[in-house]
Amino acid sequence: MPTTELAESQPSSQLVRLEATMSQEAPQYPERTQQCHHLDPTLRSDESLEFEQALRQKIVGQEDGIRAVVDLYQVYCADMCGAGRPIGNLLLLGPTGSGKTRIVEAAAESLFGDRCAVIKVDCGEFQHSHEIAKLVGSPPGYLGHRETSPLITQEELAKYHTEKIKLSFLLFDEIEKASDALWQLLLGILDKATLTLGDNRRVDLSRTMIFLTSNLGGREITEMMTGGLGFAPLVRAESKPRLDEKVERAAAEAAKRKFAPGFMNRLDKVVVFQPLRPTHLEQILEIELAMVQKRVMDTAREKFVFHVAPEARSFLLREGTDLKYGARHLKRAIERHIVYPLANLLSTGQVRLGDMLCIDWDEREQRLLFEKEGEGAVLPVVAPATMAASVQAAGAVGGKPAEEPSTAAAREANRHP
Ligand SMILES: Nc1ncnc2c1ncn2[C@@H]1O[C@H](COP(=O)(O)OP(=O)(O)O)[C@@H](O)[C@H]1O
Ligand SMILES: [Mg+2]
Repeated sequence: MPTTELAESQPSSQLVRLEATMSQEAPQYPERTQQCHHLDPTLRSDESLEFEQALRQKIVGQEDGIRAVVDLYQVYCADMCGAGRPIGNLLLLGPTGSGKTRIVEAAAESLFGDRCAVIKVDCGEFQHSHEIAKLVGSPPGYLGHRETSPLITQEELAKYHTEKIKLSFLLFDEIEKASDALWQLLLGILDKATLTLGDNRRVDLSRTMIFLTSNLGGREITEMMTGGLGFAPLVRAESKPRLDEKVERAAAEAAKRKFAPGFMNRLDKVVVFQPLRPTHLEQILEIELAMVQKRVMDTAREKFVFHVAPEARSFLLREGTDLKYGARHLKRAIERHIVYPLANLLSTGQVRLGDMLCIDWDEREQRLLFEKEGEGAVLPVVAPATMAASVQAAGAVGGKPAEEPSTAAAREANRHP
């Protein structure tokens, strides 16, 4: 008899017995009595769509990376995390400065409003076995037992949890630098989602997403992109998928050569980050400039607004494009050419609260030009989170910070006294 009919016709005591038997046996399905509905397993829930959108505002390109992280979040949202296993173990491969570390920070920022809501283990710092004590604490009786507080504890994992989200992020960055002892610890975590601390306390990582990053194969990938020229020639649209495939294969093969099968088998997915192309760098420039504006709003002594003219942006892109270091080079160019001069202007009193600056390009002198366009900008007095959102939104519309109507009016008045 079909189970549903049974459920309707049996007294509750029998139902309990039925459930108990069913839990050990394969589920039984009622016979098909009506037309079945087609379901759509690709639909995302509202919360994961929101998460994806927030990630996309911070991460440029890297579709596979975004999809893999959102997939895991959906597993978490549906409470489908298997017992005794992390929510997911992802290995992120690809060249330096392509967003591997950033995507984990961005995920934390999107869910908890703080990019630091990640336990980050820089594997390079744990090359020697004795340094593992920094991660798990030393056993009682050992020298320094009381002084070393372990990095990975249940409290640390739960530090940023909210009423709604009880998910944690653990990142092992640049694993190719890990020592043997760290490998052993890592394998245990990936497999059983538990970690035993020096003092024998157990850490449960079954509600944790584990990310491992490596630059392995990065050099080959960059060479593939540049043909050994040192810059990325324009790739024709029709040959791009083939190049992406080659890149993926090179990274996966490098991983197989370097890492033992015991490790590779414990991974849920290997995601290959693509080298960034000029259009990606343009978008990253927008994001980074919006972040500098946010920094000014959050922490600078005197808050002001600035915008960067298109010619000045082109200069920053020229300065900041170096395929070997991906977006890291661009960030350095922004620090050197925008942040340092702004700091100078602030600390010498040339820029004051509410000023409006334009950063332009002086073609004759071949340098950036900092001009005061107006003053008396009405700066939003809002909570930092909201302010961040407004600055972020500004970044999306040509990098011009959002102005209140009165600010714009003040500028107009300044232009036409
Ligand atoms: N795909 C990307 N989208 C947005 N920003 C990026 C991206 N890739 C790199 N960046 C920027 O460059 C910086 C360095 O990238 P990171 O993620 O640390 O590189 P890696 O791949 O070596 O881990 C980041 O902090 C971020 O500001
Ligand atoms: Mg990194």
